[in-house]
Amino acid sequence: MVITSGMSIAASDENLLNMCQACHGNDGNSQFTSIPNLKWQNQAYMVQQLAQFKNGQRQDKTMSKVAKLLSTEQMEAIASYFHNGKEE
Ligand code: HEC
Repeated sequence: MVITSGMSIAASDENLLNMCQACHGNDGNSQFTSIPNLKWQNQAYMVQQLAQFKNGQRQDKTMSKVAKLLSTEQMEAIASYFHNGKEE
């Protein structure tokens, strides 16, 4: 998978992305009323939310666990993917 906006997701990160997609939808368009869309969301905002889930400033029983799995680089790459809004 190649991300057109410049930042690409390494093969080793694809499992992480697959996990995000299971809840937030393949392109970030969520199928579930309880899960927010990430499609086209501001990239810096998403990175900030993920950092806050990781450091405990923002809490959610799922996302607090998920965010602990992510490095800053992975947050940026995955946020770039969802900001981009579609698979190329
Ligand atoms: C089991 C389902 C699930 C998985 C897996 C999951 N999320 Fe979430 N995500 C949620 C829910 C539910 C919320 C809303 C949390 C809240 O209400 O604060 C959320 C919120 C978010 C937000 C904040 C959105 C906003 O509008 O503030 C971001 C960003 C996000 N998730 C990114 C990710 C990323 C990146 C991954 C994969 C590494 C991921 N999520 C995996 C369910 C999930």
